[in-house]
Amino acid sequence: MQTVAELDEFYHRADPWGYENNPDDRERKRKLLSLLPSGELNRTLDIGCGDGFITFDLPGKSVVGVDLSTRAIEFAKQRASVREDGDRFEYYAMSLFNLSKKALGSFNLIVITGVLYKQYIGSSSALVNLIIDDLLEPGGYLVSCHINEWLMSSFPYNRVDASLYNYRGYTHKLEVYKK
Ligand SMILES: C[S@@+](CC[C@H](N)C(=O)[O-])C[C@H]1O[C@@H](n2cnc3c(N)ncnc32)[C@H](O)[C@@H]1O
Repeated sequence: MQTVAELDEFYHRADPWGYENNPDDRERKRKLLSLLPSGELNRTLDIGCGDGFITFDLPGKSVVGVDLSTRAIEFAKQRASVREDGDRFEYYAMSLFNLSKKALGSFNLIVITGVLYKQYIGSSSALVNLIIDDLLEPGGYLVSCHINEWLMSSFPYNRVDASLYNYRGYTHKLEVYKK
């Protein structure tokens, strides 16, 4: 699995995958946002948030982003600091494997995109599911958005929406679950 040092080296600059200017990533974000539950949300969590490409557009009175890369989180914090609504966001450099309700509280919406791959979670998808279950409120929503060919996980909740579409030469799978 990739280490903090390896990820930090990759994040020698903001937006290392070039999401901001890639039409496939802009479309991925548009699709994801269009499937989010309507109505006011209290707390949202973005797991493996990178430097906030998706996070800054997520709804929620409070939005928490976590990423293993300390440099990604530094970039995200810089971006939050120049936004009018920057107070809405909290960013933490930590592994998803260290997330818990005890540490962060629980969430009405959890988003995880581009993270459930072997290079990041090894073969620990069952453990990831337990961690997410601890964090997600009953009745809460989980949104998973990944390259289908690489995706390691599915979730034990009702799947209320799903779509497949082309993404950077792969098939992307966007799924919305309700706990
Ligand atoms: C492909 S990027 C996706 C970034 C972001 N979710 C997006 O779509 O814009 C994967 C992210 O997962 C992070 N990551 C990898 N392993 C992680 C772990 N164990 N815990 C938290 N984040 C991790 C990486 O640092 C990277 O920012």
